[in-house]
Amino acid sequence: MEKEKLKGVSNGKKFLIESYGCQMNFSDSEIVASILTEKGFSITKVEDDADLILLNTCAIRDNAEQRVRNRLTHLKGKKKRNKTLKVGVLGCMAERLKSKLLDEEKLVDLVVGPDAYRDLPNLIEEVETGQKAVNVLLSREETYADINPVRMNQDGVTAFVSIMRGCDNMCSFCVVPFTRGRERSRSPETIVKECTDLFASGYKEVTLLGQNVDSYRWNIDSKGNIKNENEETTNFAGLLEKVALVDKNLRVRFSTSHPKDMTDDVLHTMAKYENICNYIHLPVQSGNSDVLKRMNRGYTREWYLDRMKAIRRIIPECAVSTDIITGFCGENEEEFNDTLSLMKEVKYDFAYMFFYSERPKTLAERKFEDDVPLELKKSRLTEVINLQSEHGHASTKRQVGLTQEVLVEGVSKRSSEHNYGRNSQNAVVIFPKQDSKRGDYVQVKIQSCTPATLMGEIVG
Ligand code: SAH
Ligand code: SF4
Ligand code: F3S
Repeated sequence: MEKEKLKGVSNGKKFLIESYGCQMNFSDSEIVASILTEKGFSITKVEDDADLILLNTCAIRDNAEQRVRNRLTHLKGKKKRNKTLKVGVLGCMAERLKSKLLDEEKLVDLVVGPDAYRDLPNLIEEVETGQKAVNVLLSREETYADINPVRMNQDGVTAFVSIMRGCDNMCSFCVVPFTRGRERSRSPETIVKECTDLFASGYKEVTLLGQNVDSYRWNIDSKGNIKNENEETTNFAGLLEKVALVDKNLRVRFSTSHPKDMTDDVLHTMAKYENICNYIHLPVQSGNSDVLKRMNRGYTREWYLDRMKAIRRIIPECAVSTDIITGFCGENEEEFNDTLSLMKEVKYDFAYMFFYSERPKTLAERKFEDDVPLELKKSRLTEVINLQSEHGHASTKRQVGLTQEVLVEGVSKRSSEHNYGRNSQNAVVIFPKQDSKRGDYVQVKIQSCTPATLMGEIVG
């Protein structure tokens, strides 16, 4: 009882949290913020006001870690001037490097992995007594299902909702299974409740997050058997439907789909509900089947193109984006050309493109030589980027002349006379405000475009 009363009462301490990496990390930071504010800490965005600075880090590529190291070096200087300032590293880099971050670098006071955030208040107490604190235990169960995230993106219109954690796929290039642990799904009830609450407080769009949303499963084991006869079973298509039914004015997005697991069921569910956005992020990584095999992705070029055909057939209006890696171990000219030819075949609306960065402990690091010279990785990346910008521009040009529903997210950064929002296909649309405001759905006639943005006017 006494404890209950103390909940949320200010302890006078302020924390600042910075997020790096994927949407999952941004979503986790909102969980961390919730755990800490419950214990009386308050959030600040001003570095000089913070008693505690937390970096929620990413380990996906070497340059992601480098960014964090630079930031930590900067903060070290700050700690010299302000002896009471504490710095903590959370997330994937914390999990990867564990106490090394404390021992080697002497830059941080606190290291906490992605499954240990409930322990943060205790760990901070330890740190306050002058000790260093670490908890990098991974869990098979933790989904933070009961925690109500403190929303940190201030638009009040769009929110991330985590539906699962971890990843069991073991793509050979990828560090995520090591930093985030085993895959586990969150209960459909808590997901639907979170979405319902968000809609009730004015949110108009949720993005369901998981490393491989297609393998979401509740009450079904990895072999497809029902675990508990008395409980409802849900797969991703079922979950998507439940969330779509929260309200027809709540837009639903999701990320990331995995080509080996994406079913026609999911596509039919998308086609059935107007409020599930016509947009799929379907990372291909490479257009060559031998490279895909070395990457341990679990599909071939043909399989991927068949999934693309299913998308085009079932949801003709669907936009598709992808992730591409150039210069993976052993990638020769011919194999690389297959990536370019696949891109030409699919014509992605959008893509995230990277050159291969070897990560310690991964299958690729143990099995293959990182033998494509950096310069070649980079020149291939440039080729991929140039081709994609043609395709991206073609995509925005195709939309000129159409009238599209846009969810208003806020005032354009370039002009206070304009609002911006996104269409169902996830493209940014800018238009004169008229009397629209954030959170409104408006019909916009697209009149012109740049390679990445649509411009139009509200009609009707
Ligand atoms: N779960 C998602 C990917 C998460 S990581 C999926 O399966 O698609 C986001 C992207 O980072 C990956 O799709 C991949 O393109 C890229 N990436 C991951 N590891 C990488 C590495 N070692 N080097 C370069 N890019 C990498
Ligand atoms: Fe990494 Fe593959 Fe899992 Fe994606 S599916 S997080 S690339 S291991
Ligand atoms: Fe990075 Fe971890 Fe996400 S490695 S991409 S923050 S899951």
